[in-house]
Amino acid sequence: MNNPALYVKSNPFQRRDAQLVLKKYGPQLAPGLAVLDVGCGTGDLTVDILAQACGDFRLLLGVDLSSHMVDFARRNFQTDRIFFDQLDIATTEVSTFRARWGSFDRIYSFYCLHWVKDLNRAVGNLGSLLATGGEMLLVFLAHNPIFEVYQRMAATSRWKVYMEVSILLNGDLLNTNIHKTCLVISCSDVLLQFT
Ligand SMILES: C[S@@+](CC[C@H](N)C(=O)[O-])C[C@H]1O[C@@H](n2cnc3c(N)ncnc32)[C@H](O)[C@@H]1O
Repeated sequence: MNNPALYVKSNPFQRRDAQLVLKKYGPQLAPGLAVLDVGCGTGDLTVDILAQACGDFRLLLGVDLSSHMVDFARRNFQTDRIFFDQLDIATTEVSTFRARWGSFDRIYSFYCLHWVKDLNRAVGNLGSLLATGGEMLLVFLAHNPIFEVYQRMAATSRWKVYMEVSILLNGDLLNTNIHKTCLVISCSDVLLQFT
C-alpha cells in the first residue's frame, strides 16, 4: 500500500464491495453536507463511487495515513469540492484536524480500520469528528482466514523471526460477534454482517 500507482490498478474487490454496501445502506443525503472518507487510499473509490452516491455534498474530504496515497489522490482526483488530507485516524491530536476541517455529517470508511492498531482511539476520533445527528458507515475486515495463517506462520521457526502477529479486534469493541468476514456499522448499531 506504499505504491499508489499499483494499488489503483489492484482494488476491484474494494470497489465492488463499496458499491454493494452503498447500494444497500447508501446515504439518503440532503444537499450541502460535509462527508469524510477515512483511509481513502488513492482516492479513486472516493471520487468514482462515494461521490456519486453522495449527490450534492458541500465537501467530500478523503483522508489517509500515507502521504504517498494523499499526494496521488490530490494529483489525480482533487476538485473544487473534493479534497484530500493526511490523517492518522488513531492520532492523539484529532482536535487540530477538527479545527481545520470542522465536523462531518457523514463518515465512511472502506477497508481501512483493520489496519489500525489502536481501534479504541480510532473509534473515539471518528465519534468526535461526527457532527451532531451525523451518521457513519464503516466497512472493514473483522475476521479473515488469512489471520489464522499468519498466526500459524509466526509460530514456526522459519517465519517467527520475521513476524509478530497480534489479533487486535475483540468482541467487546463493537459489542458483537467477530467471527464474520465483514461488519458494516452505522453509529453504534451493527446493521449488517456477512461472511
Ligand atoms: C486497503 S486500503 C483502502 C483504500 C480505499 N478505501 C479502498 O477501499 O480502495 C487501506 C488504506 O487505509 C490507510 N490507513 C491505514 N491505517 C490508517 C490510519 N491509521 N489512518 C488513516 N488511514 C489509514 C492505508 O494507508 C490505505 O491507504
